[in-house]
Amino acid sequence: MPHSRIVGTGSYLPEKIVSNKDLEATIDTSDEWIRERTGIRCRHIAADDEKTSDMAVIAARRAIEAAGIDVQEIDLIVMATTTPDKIFPSTACIVQRKLGIEGGAAFDVQAVCSGFVYGLDIAHRFIKTGGAKTVLVIGAETMSRIVDWQDRSTAVLFGDGAGAVILQASEEEGIVSTHIHSDGSLEETLHVPYGVSQGYDAVCDGRAFIVMNGNTVFRKAVSMLGAIARETLDGNNIDKKDLDWLVPHQANMRIITAAAKKFGLPMERVVVTVDTHANTSAASIPLALDIAVRDGRIKRGELMLLEAFGAGLTWASALIRY
Ligand code: ACO
Repeated sequence: MPHSRIVGTGSYLPEKIVSNKDLEATIDTSDEWIRERTGIRCRHIAADDEKTSDMAVIAARRAIEAAGIDVQEIDLIVMATTTPDKIFPSTACIVQRKLGIEGGAAFDVQAVCSGFVYGLDIAHRFIKTGGAKTVLVIGAETMSRIVDWQDRSTAVLFGDGAGAVILQASEEEGIVSTHIHSDGSLEETLHVPYGVSQGYDAVCDGRAFIVMNGNTVFRKAVSMLGAIARETLDGNNIDKKDLDWLVPHQANMRIITAAAKKFGLPMERVVVTVDTHANTSAASIPLALDIAVRDGRIKRGELMLLEAFGAGLTWASALIRY
């Protein structure tokens, strides 16, 4: 059976930056409160005419270029998003068209902030079983469209962006293992309470926004990340001291710090982008990964743990020899 290996990464952030100070002008909040409670200083926000697929395509092109592959080699696109361009077709198919890819298959995965790691899990299994050879895995989000900008409890937390990787069949080890979980009983802890099958516009008058119990999500996130880290390391007989990098979902600096502490990892070994990107949901991990690869921090041969949690609730991890 072949291994599956990351051969290229790419990312994209919209041009417009909104700082905490900017938010002070529209809601009852402060730069100090946001930085202290979340570690966030600013976030990128998509332009009015910028869609999830537009950001995804730019991130994908950068990953394709880094991998040095021909775009027609891609035989599967797995697109993680909770903010698709349209109800249908899938944003993956829209990306396929925009990239001019003529064959293969493309579909979306909906696991909110865990979506990219879910996507990696699926791509890894396709490659291991011979179903695909070169997979484009994307996480891209326009969270700004489902944020109520008058609700200070959520408006300060989210941002937009996209990240992508090319995963390819290889003789060399790459993805060591992937782990995915969900608990649907916690649906209302974090959700957008409206959707198509409820009649959408009729029930919410276009106000389909994120509703969250921040304290519960915080506590659950810390315990889920601890559990999945143990499951991943124990399942591979790996000691936490063998880990070179932690690339966590970027939701809150305090959650990231707690996760790093459990590993005894110094913060220099943890990739942090939440300060400037905020929470970009499914895009957060591939964005952080690409930034640390491109600035030379993450090097070939190093061992990293990707770990995510999100609405569902869902949580997921991937242990990767880069
Ligand atoms: N500015 C100023 N004050 C605020 C703000 C704000 N933006 N938001 C809330 N407050 C106030 C509250 O009203 C409350 O005031 P009170 O004491 O007078 O009632 C006070 O600050 C404390 O509020 P808490 O909710 O207890 O603050 P906490 O320290 O828990 O931080 C936070 C809130 C940042 C949301 C935290 O709970 C958190 O990060 N949770 C995890 C959220 C998360 O990760 N969500 C994304 C999941 S990923 C996905 O799938 C989309």
